[in-house]
Amino acid sequence: MIKVRDIAYVRFAAPDLDAMERFLVDFGLHVSSRDGERIHARGTDPAPYLHVTERGEAGFRGLAFEAACEDDLEAAARLEGASAIEKIDAPGGGRRVCFRDPDGFSVEVVCGRAELPALPVPGADPYNRGSDRARLGRLQRVPSGPPAVKRLGHAVLRVSDFRRSDDWYRSRFGFLTSDEVYLGDESNVVTAFLRCDRGAEYTDHHTLLCVGLGEPGFDHAAFEVEDIDAVMVGHDELAKAGYAHHAGIGRHVLGSQVFDYWKDPWGHVLEHFTDGDLLNDRHETGHHDPRTALGTQWGTFG
Ligand SMILES: [Fe+2]
Repeated sequence: MIKVRDIAYVRFAAPDLDAMERFLVDFGLHVSSRDGERIHARGTDPAPYLHVTERGEAGFRGLAFEAACEDDLEAAARLEGASAIEKIDAPGGGRRVCFRDPDGFSVEVVCGRAELPALPVPGADPYNRGSDRARLGRLQRVPSGPPAVKRLGHAVLRVSDFRRSDDWYRSRFGFLTSDEVYLGDESNVVTAFLRCDRGAEYTDHHTLLCVGLGEPGFDHAAFEVEDIDAVMVGHDELAKAGYAHHAGIGRHVLGSQVFDYWKDPWGHVLEHFTDGDLLNDRHETGHHDPRTALGTQWGTFG
């Protein structure tokens, strides 16, 4: 087993790269490279890309996790079902090991992609909280236009057998379980919020979820933005541009993120989020019924 550090990117196919590029820019990503066949889009963090589109019939094509080091990539290549290590033919290069998960989803473990210089992150000035006035004598004028996406935070897959997929991901990539959700009996777990095991270092409450309900397929991928104003401005920008809204705006219970879900032109759901919980390896697993998982602290999820 290795312990992946984070999610690296999600891959899709689309028949119209111009329409996908317009959506990605409106969503707040930056196109880092484009040719006749592929778009690579990045956030403000140094990763060379977070979202890949290949020309083809629209659909989800897979996801990738970041290995902590080259030794872990070598170890990944020795896991059951692993490919040999191969070079990545994309901006930033690097190397990868490829897998198929139990439902046939393509999963890559990557390492050594060359980073790009970080981009500036526009954000709101400090908030004047009721009990802590941090912005004195300055007017609040939040950035307009698409919100700057910082990074990819998590992906959610619907799977045919929750236990099988959950075991598959945890036993290879070292995920820890932040929260489990059961239907009826507590032993009937249908989804688990998995986070990376970085030891004492804090990481997102969830990096991957496998949901054992419905038909197997891609559910959504979530991208972090700077603050709540960025989520709200992003909502207005995507509405103005005429895209289809999926869910939100609200604050989740499990993970606590402020969220807003939109659809790309082919219906793949992408989420903006901010202010998610950060946990380390000392956090104990929570157990919840679906009302908690689907509920919100405020706003609507649906
Ligand atoms: Fe999400």
